[in-house]
Amino acid sequence: MEIFSLNLSQFNSFSFRLQSLHPLFLRRNSIFFHLRSVRSSSSTVSITDAPLQPISSVLSTVVKEAPPLEKVSSESLQYESGFLGAVPFTGVDGGGVDAMDYLTSILLSRVYDVAIESPLQHAPKFSQRIGVNVWFKREDMQPVFSFKLRGAYNMMAKLSREQLDKGVICSSAGNHAQGVALAAQKLHCEAVIVMPVTTPEIKWKSVERLGATVVRVGDSYDEAQTYAKKQALELGQTFIPPFDHPDVIAGQGTVGMEIVRQLESMKSLHAVFVPVGGGGLIAGIAAYIKRVRPQTKIIGVEPYDANAMALSLHHGHRIMLEQVGGFADGVAVKVVGEETFRICNNLVDGIVLVSRDAICASIKDMYEEKRSILEPAGALSLAGAEAYCKYYGLRDENIVVITSGANMNFDRLRLVTELANVGRKQEAVLTTFLPEECGSFKIFSQQIGEMNITEFKYRYDAFKKEALILYSVGLHTADELEEMMDRMKSSGMGTINLTENELVKDHLRHLMGGRSAVQNEFLYRFIFPERPGALMKFLDTFSPRWNITLFHYRAQGASGANVLVAFQISKDDMSKFRKKADSLGYEYTEEFENKAYQLLMQ
Ligand SMILES: Cc1ncc(COP(=O)(O)O)c(C=O)c1O
Repeated sequence: MEIFSLNLSQFNSFSFRLQSLHPLFLRRNSIFFHLRSVRSSSSTVSITDAPLQPISSVLSTVVKEAPPLEKVSSESLQYESGFLGAVPFTGVDGGGVDAMDYLTSILLSRVYDVAIESPLQHAPKFSQRIGVNVWFKREDMQPVFSFKLRGAYNMMAKLSREQLDKGVICSSAGNHAQGVALAAQKLHCEAVIVMPVTTPEIKWKSVERLGATVVRVGDSYDEAQTYAKKQALELGQTFIPPFDHPDVIAGQGTVGMEIVRQLESMKSLHAVFVPVGGGGLIAGIAAYIKRVRPQTKIIGVEPYDANAMALSLHHGHRIMLEQVGGFADGVAVKVVGEETFRICNNLVDGIVLVSRDAICASIKDMYEEKRSILEPAGALSLAGAEAYCKYYGLRDENIVVITSGANMNFDRLRLVTELANVGRKQEAVLTTFLPEECGSFKIFSQQIGEMNITEFKYRYDAFKKEALILYSVGLHTADELEEMMDRMKSSGMGTINLTENELVKDHLRHLMGGRSAVQNEFLYRFIFPERPGALMKFLDTFSPRWNITLFHYRAQGASGANVLVAFQISKDDMSKFRKKADSLGYEYTEEFENKAYQLLMQ
């Protein structure tokens, strides 16, 4: 018998070539080799099978990276939100994927030195709205606010003291970094976290605060990772991968174990919805739940523009995304893991895709339900669950959604609140053409009728016959919008629905306006009371006598909204205008001496 031993501690993935072997043997041995290598918890793997030839002639090359993966665009696999797509070819196999081994590893995981058993909370408002019983698995309540410390700690806790003394290294700008840093603190070892140089200060500072050393290298995550792996090899540090390692997967699998325990008395659990990045969390949860409650569906949720797992399952092998959307940064992964893919391909029921607007709406739902703010990746499974339940008309079933993280970048909240109502289809973004003449603003408002305008932007252009306004309206029903658009059309005011246009929502709505050499223009700031009819009262006061040349309004959700408005007023008319403005009863200030206005708008 030939014994071959190879140190694999630094390899995240590897491949090897076998030569001159009987096909049966080749298959048997390559599978054997593969399983032993990826599932070994120690750093040394031994091949003790009896090969037909000396192993030295069998193993010709060991390379660090797998062959390049096929690059595909996220747009090449898009289906309706809520539809369960990317169903694996293999069919779900609860007993496969070394189920017993994973089950044991999960049961023996040592995550509770750092992690808590997170609560499983019923969500009454969300449940009532979508007509099923929804339970939130609150991984956002973990120390460092995400589940990631489970996997990192489980892998690190298995290292020998000697390995720990050499230190650990990882590359991440997100939740994995915090997990590794906290785990290192607990295990009294040094942690080096490699982040791209572009990482915002808030992220690297929070990792440094946990006692880790942050090294900022490279312009992208890939460059940071290459550097971290190289350092690990040179300095003998242990590389802690974010998802693609059996111990990391087993650590994340403890989430599944807790769900089963927490819902012990529940007869049927229809599905667990899991956010998917590299696939560590869903692989761990599936490995446990499919073994003990195989009838429960394990459904992954990905953003439309970060659908690496859906595409890999669809193709039957791992692919690389050409580009990945970064809004839900926790799941912005171009390539899923090798081992995580293998597990998902056997155990996951499919993937639901969701839009950025839907994720924002789910962040709002969570806030309304529990007064907690999730990060986009953390709210992904809520969005997926809602879309799925609506698509399949599910009623009265029990479902679990993993709220996986709360490391929200505070500056993002503005965008989230802007998109949340659009995502829930409670707001539509529109543009309407108006004849550029006095009074048309008022006619437009009459067509809006009872609907609530939440945003309004207009800038006069002396060279155009038609004015273009950009505005948003609050919605209660889909018909309401159609009826309003019909009213606009019949009064000759062409209207376009831009609700689905990302460019408008991200940029153009903020760019509307600019300079316009309008004669006798005077700028004011008014505080409008937030109540129906406030705009109409305003227009009744000034229109058609004074031409409005600029209008900017955005509902703030407060008792009064700040409105910027400009009028053309002749010098002789000024005192009359002031009298009218005072009689309106809205607070206002003159802004025409404002330097910024003179610089940017005149
Ligand atoms: C908040 C959050 N949710 C979900 C995920 C996805 O986890 P995985 O990469 O194991 O699929 C991550 C990954 O970092 C995350 O930070």
